[in-house]
Amino acid sequence: MTQSTASPFYLDCDTGIDDALALAYLLASPRAELVGIGTVSGNIGAAGGARNTLDLLHLAGQPDIPVAVGAHDPQVGTFHGGAPHVHGVNGIGEVELPTSDRETVAESAAELLVRLARQFPGELRVVAIGPLTNIAEALRLEPELPRLVADVTIMGGAALVPGNMTPVAEANIVNDPEAAAEVFAADWNVTLVPLDVTMTNVLEESHRQELLSAGHAVPQALGEMLGYYFGFYVSQFGRECSAMHDPLAAAIAVGGVELAVAPVVHVEVDTTHGPGRGQTVCDLRGIYQGYPAVEGARCRVVLSLAEEFAPHMLEVLASRWPAVRPEGAAA
Ligand code: BDR
Ligand code: CA
Repeated sequence: MTQSTASPFYLDCDTGIDDALALAYLLASPRAELVGIGTVSGNIGAAGGARNTLDLLHLAGQPDIPVAVGAHDPQVGTFHGGAPHVHGVNGIGEVELPTSDRETVAESAAELLVRLARQFPGELRVVAIGPLTNIAEALRLEPELPRLVADVTIMGGAALVPGNMTPVAEANIVNDPEAAAEVFAADWNVTLVPLDVTMTNVLEESHRQELLSAGHAVPQALGEMLGYYFGFYVSQFGRECSAMHDPLAAAIAVGGVELAVAPVVHVEVDTTHGPGRGQTVCDLRGIYQGYPAVEGARCRVVLSLAEEFAPHMLEVLASRWPAVRPEGAAA
């Protein structure tokens, strides 16, 4: 059962280096109890993402959390094969984890989400950090889903900044724009964590070294994966560091970081087949008036934080995997 201070969370992911960090964050946070995980194709195929997830849960000593394989293909077209140049061929920076002997559950990710939403009516909180195919499928399976789920936090989109897959589109959204359009059109409270805030909150080499020196298998593996991720981000930032897309979404979902600018506005997704495909069209025209309330709007778009994210993330991870100091060393 859920601890008194922790909410039940369902995580939908494409594990993925930053997905692995988000998973570790949710496992470590006292505010979250992960009750199920679904995977979707994105950084890697849905089945490969599930294998990574099972192995990470095994490493973290929490193998009992159910993992369901979700959609392999988006609603339109077929899976493009992943992002090995960003996340490695195995999705986790070519780091080899001990293999879990657990298997994925028989139900699909969408079925798992619907079952958990019925089990925790009004309580279940959804964090989606991959393409939104499973979430859209769950909406079709259970039209009452928006009333059963407490809220949905999505890493994706680009509100006022360029995309990372096209000039205007971010990976999670452009990998299945039709699904994303359905999810944003549903009648539920969504928090969108777009590139605007994930590209401006980075993890530096000094942070990675903290993970590597903690003396525990999970932070060690995350630090090693980040070595690969940093390699990709040199082309973006000109130095060894990385964006913190998915763990930031996890932290915002649990209320772990204070937000600075996060207006609640209308968001639509471009599903045309022109240059705008996959763009998250956020109505931010209230910018000049301090974003007055918008009638009927349900999507909180996080544009900036009131605090630095990396130290917070390291603190939460260290609360679960505290640094082991050599005997006799000063604290
Ligand atoms: C998003 O796409 C994936 O590559 C990452 O895991 C993240 O969820 C960033 O655009
Ligand atoms: Ca992801």
